[in-house]
Amino acid sequence: MIAQRLTDDIHLFRAIDWDRKLFDELVPLPEGTTYNAYLVRGRDKTALIDTVYPPKVEELIAALKAAGVERLDYIVANHAEQDHTGAIPALLALHPEAKVVTNAKCKRFILDTLPVDRDAFITVRDGGSLDLGGKTLTFHLTPWVHWPDTMVTFAVEDRIAFTCDFLGAHLATTELYARDEAQVAISAKRYYAEIMMPYRGFSADALAKVEALDPVLVAPSHGPVHDRPAFVFDLYRGWTADEVKPLVVIPYVSMYESTAKMVAYLTDRLAERGVAAQPVSVVDLDSGALAMSIVDASGIVFASPTVLGGPHPSLAAAAILINALAPKTRQVAVIGSFGWEGSLPEQVIGLLPRLEAEVLEPVMAKGLAREETLAEIARLADQLAGLNTAEAAAA
Ligand code: FEO
Repeated sequence: MIAQRLTDDIHLFRAIDWDRKLFDELVPLPEGTTYNAYLVRGRDKTALIDTVYPPKVEELIAALKAAGVERLDYIVANHAEQDHTGAIPALLALHPEAKVVTNAKCKRFILDTLPVDRDAFITVRDGGSLDLGGKTLTFHLTPWVHWPDTMVTFAVEDRIAFTCDFLGAHLATTELYARDEAQVAISAKRYYAEIMMPYRGFSADALAKVEALDPVLVAPSHGPVHDRPAFVFDLYRGWTADEVKPLVVIPYVSMYESTAKMVAYLTDRLAERGVAAQPVSVVDLDSGALAMSIVDASGIVFASPTVLGGPHPSLAAAAILINALAPKTRQVAVIGSFGWEGSLPEQVIGLLPRLEAEVLEPVMAKGLAREETLAEIARLADQLAGLNTAEAAAA
């Protein structure tokens, strides 16, 4: 780990996790990740904003020592998850004079999860500030970007917003700034979809709050720093907006090709109607790829054969995940096949209580989908394309 300069007095200490494949035992990390800690030196006091994941603690301590940091007055915790707070106990052991600066919720979570003394904290409110001597830090509560405790710290004189998870990306890189914007946009979208999308309204609120600070740098605690904040602001504005794109995502499983045939037929009919279709096999699912696919989707069609009277377990797992992610999709439907019985569509829809979407008529084939079933799928494509059948016939 090395210190990377943002200004003469503000440096990034970034632990790069090239090989981490999974976060929280749930979120795939195809590009690895970084844990960013920021050192801010004022005339009188020194603060560290966020720390690192526990396995990287020794790296951080060695890098701070190499940078000549002999005294630490404050450790600002923007968020209690251990990938940012993991080094606090070790840093407090080395710097017993330091205080942990955070909001009341974050303090409670840190006390719940780490061996930190209750007296080690300074609790701040929304809009509170800390004077380091010529450097002022202000604190801005931005709940639910990721947990209810999240906040943004702003270095007033340098106009740098430290946003922790918010506006970040799981992307292992040595580049200080987001130079390859196409690559960063993909990593940032994956991260937004997995972490922020379930609380989209809170992300929109947090975006407005950070934009109002008018930062010249946005410095998240994962991935590169943004020296062109408008880039990441515009991405988030699109993702958090109510508008959807004409895109139907089709999570599917097929055992004997009947459901696969229905998926292929639906895909073609949607394309004919000017609606993009994205079938996603949920066998060996990349949950991050599925999450990304539904960020702006206008519709989601779940496709499954009937297995033991219900959806295939892999399709059920995908439905549970999509429900938890609560995308802004406007329409949902279920298609699939059955052999002798089952209430597959009702069971799948029952897994989606968080989705505020219109539920369209399901299409189920007994065995292989034949002409009549395919005609029903064409009618479903009409509905997903915003056409009624009469309009479609006239087109
Ligand atoms: Fe990067 Fe929610 O922690």
